[in-house]
Amino acid sequence: MSARTLADTARALVAGDKGLLAMDESNGTCNKRFAQQGIPQTEEARRAYRELIVTTPHLGECISGVILYDETIRQSKKNGTPFLEVIQEAGIIPGIKVDIGAKDLAGHLGETITEGLDGLRDRLKAYFDMGARFAKWRAVIALGDGLPTQACIETNAQALARYAALCQEVGLVPIVEPEVLMAGDHTMERCGATTEQVLLTVFAQLHLQGVMLEGLILKPNMVLPGLSSVQQKSVEEVADATVRVLLHTVPAAVPGIAFLSGGQSAKLASARLNAMNRRSKEWATPLPWALAFSYARAIQQPALKIWRGEASNVVPAQRALYHRAHCNVAARRGDYAS
Ligand code: 13P
Repeated sequence: MSARTLADTARALVAGDKGLLAMDESNGTCNKRFAQQGIPQTEEARRAYRELIVTTPHLGECISGVILYDETIRQSKKNGTPFLEVIQEAGIIPGIKVDIGAKDLAGHLGETITEGLDGLRDRLKAYFDMGARFAKWRAVIALGDGLPTQACIETNAQALARYAALCQEVGLVPIVEPEVLMAGDHTMERCGATTEQVLLTVFAQLHLQGVMLEGLILKPNMVLPGLSSVQQKSVEEVADATVRVLLHTVPAAVPGIAFLSGGQSAKLASARLNAMNRRSKEWATPLPWALAFSYARAIQQPALKIWRGEASNVVPAQRALYHRAHCNVAARRGDYAS
C-alpha cells in the first residue's frame, strides 16, 4: 500500500469539521451498557442498536469514519443489507478495533497491557479485504499511588507501535490510542505530566519502529483532573492544559488528533473540544494538526438512554445521536453553544 494512500485516508478522517464515531464496544462492554438501561444483552439487541446507529439519517454530514467491532463488521440490517454497505453508502469510512483488550500486566498490580499482536497481520489483511480502511488499538494507563510505572508505559507504547507498523503494512491507517484514565483523585497537573510522558514514549516507539506519522491518527485523552479530585477545572483551563501537552509531544507531521471522551459527559466533551479549537488562534504557535473527536459514550449515551431497546424509540434516539454528532462538528469550528 502506498504511503500516499495511507496519508490520504488519515487526512480524510479529520477533513472538514467531521470526526469519528466509536461504536466498537466489545460484547462485554456493550452488554454492560445495555444492562444499565435494562436492555436485553443478546446478539440481536446489539445488532438492532448498531443498525439504529448506522442508519441515522445524514450521519455522514458529521461523521468521517466509524470504528466497528468484530461482531458488528459482519452484521447486517434486518432487511439483509450489510452494515458495511450502509456505512460506505453514507460516505463514511469503516474502521475496526483490533486489540483484544487490556489484560493484567504481570508483576504490576493495578496495571494492564493491551493484547492482540499474535496473528494480527492476518486479521488486519482480512479486515482490509472486507473493506476496513483504518484500525484502532487502545492502551490503558491508570494513575494512582506509584502508578503508572515506566514498565507499563513502555510495554504499552511498544505494542501500540508494533500494531501501527503492521496496520500500515497492509494499508490500514492506525488510530493510536494511549488513554490515561480519568479514575482517581489526581490533579490536572499530574494527568498532564503523565500524558506528556506517555505521548513522548509512544512517539519514540513509533519512530523506532518506522511508522509513518503522516499515515496515522492519534487518539489521546484530554488533560483533566481525576474524577474524584477536589480541584476541578474550568473548560478553558482544561483546553489550555491539553493543547500545551500536545504541542510538547505530537510531531507536526501527524495530520490529526481525535480525542476519546473517556467518561466525560456529552456536553463537557463538546465544550472542551470547542474551547481548544476556539482558543487555538490565540496560541503563539499555530496548531499543526486538526483537533477532532473520536467519541463513543459522548455521542452514543443520550441516544442509548432514549432507545432502551424499543423499536418505537428508534427515531428519537437517532435524532439524539445526530444532535451530539452535530454538536461536535460545531466544536471543531469553535462555535458550539451547549
Ligand atoms: P469513549 O469516547 O467512550 O471514551 O470511547 C472511545 C473509545 O474508542 C475507547 O476506546
